[in-house]
Amino acid sequence: MKHTFQQARYDEPLLIEKGKPGRVGTTLPPWDDIRDLRDLVPEGMSREDVRLPELSEPEIIRHYVRLSQMNYGTDSGIYPLGSCTMKYNPKINDVIASHPTLRRMHPLQPEDTVQGVLRMMYELQEALAEIGGMSACTLQPAAGAAGEFTGLLIAKKYHESRGDTIRDEVIIPDSAHGTNPASAVLAGLKVIEILSAPDGTVDVEALKGALSERTAAFMITNPSTLGIFERNINAIQRACHDAGALLYYDGANLNALMGKARPGDMGFDIMHYNLHKTFSTPHGGGGPGSGPVAVAARLADFLPVPVIVRNGNDYILDYDLPNTIGKVKGFYGNVGIMIRAWAFIKVLGGEGLKRASELAVLNASYIRSRIESVYPVPFSSPTKHEFVASADFLKEKGGSAKDVAKQLAQRGLHPPTNYFPLIVSEALMIEPTESETMEELDRFSDALLEIANCTAEEFAAAPKTTTVGRVDEITAAKNLILNWNQFPKEE
Ligand SMILES: Cc1ncc(COP(=O)(O)O)c(C=O)c1O
Repeated sequence: MKHTFQQARYDEPLLIEKGKPGRVGTTLPPWDDIRDLRDLVPEGMSREDVRLPELSEPEIIRHYVRLSQMNYGTDSGIYPLGSCTMKYNPKINDVIASHPTLRRMHPLQPEDTVQGVLRMMYELQEALAEIGGMSACTLQPAAGAAGEFTGLLIAKKYHESRGDTIRDEVIIPDSAHGTNPASAVLAGLKVIEILSAPDGTVDVEALKGALSERTAAFMITNPSTLGIFERNINAIQRACHDAGALLYYDGANLNALMGKARPGDMGFDIMHYNLHKTFSTPHGGGGPGSGPVAVAARLADFLPVPVIVRNGNDYILDYDLPNTIGKVKGFYGNVGIMIRAWAFIKVLGGEGLKRASELAVLNASYIRSRIESVYPVPFSSPTKHEFVASADFLKEKGGSAKDVAKQLAQRGLHPPTNYFPLIVSEALMIEPTESETMEELDRFSDALLEIANCTAEEFAAAPKTTTVGRVDEITAAKNLILNWNQFPKEE
């Protein structure tokens, strides 16, 4: 029997397999006219034996169109991947970010030739600080995890600068995203995990028990990855600050509260944003991300350099921060993502951002209300922009969260996040975002309800309609094929 991966691959061969010598996709000038170009290639660097695909234009266009048709994205339909905030991103923001003037800029250009983009970046910094209720902001980190790492280096240096050098622990709830403990370890800190209270919120007594003179920071996501808002945030804030610790806000879930509540007002000292989630770039696309970090006033001097400052009508890259942790990314961060975020914020304005969060919460709550009687939500607390349901009840008839995902794929819908957070058995973490219509929310909810009635045989056979069928996950995990050359040849 053929492996299903092989099947998909033979449905659409690689360009290198499709090409035939002599086929061309473009009209090049005669060789003699471009002979001088050879002189541009340094001695010893030119090669004649490169195996490149040779194809005609229609072959290439059709290849990529076919691949795109096998794919599923935020432009295809609902993409309710909890914790990932996969919303539809308005095309106008892509158009602005790919404007030739912006696209052709070089990071080594003199400051006075890039005043426009520096102004955009400055305005974005200010807007993010305002949305978060913070004092100062850097746009440099390239992802949420990079923002966490940056924020924790700031926390560490802040304590050190006060001679408080024994603070080497970060407390993290068990519902946290995996990047939180990973970033803490990378920053040279020790992770202390605390268990959640029965309602899914932070167990304040457990937190108080874990806080000590060694605590550098308490790191939380609010709303948590269960979608639950920490109603004890004031008590949490007091306990942490009384112990001399800083409060870190993982802002990856900011889509739940833009314009409604600000981490700075809750007492957080450091936060990061995921521009590639909340602010108009899809998350998880494999492309660049952006994880700006904002801080309270007393930490502003610790930000990475350069920060962008305004002097009258001039925008300046300022390297003169006395306590800076240094640079955390080449040049200035992923500017294309920043421009999309800037445009998104400009178009929506304060009221629009607030409405986006309201709709994100409403949409998630609607799906929860439609499916909860069948897929239990283990924690009774109200939820915000996402919620975690359990597919545990399917086990007795041979199903699982994974099978729900495969059945959804079979129905042309993207599955929610599975098996995260780890504290919910057979977790289905659902985040529809603000960009879905009532019909799309119903289509998704109806499919989930229908799937609950599938038989063991139906579960085992799905997905039947996708390009890649059911994969043998054990073989895939144990026998990695990372290069197309390694695929077994067709019999
Ligand atoms: C709650 C939370 N924190 C942090 C991150 C890390 O962000 P990134 O994937 O950009 O590193 C994510 C990513 O999904 C997240 O959901």
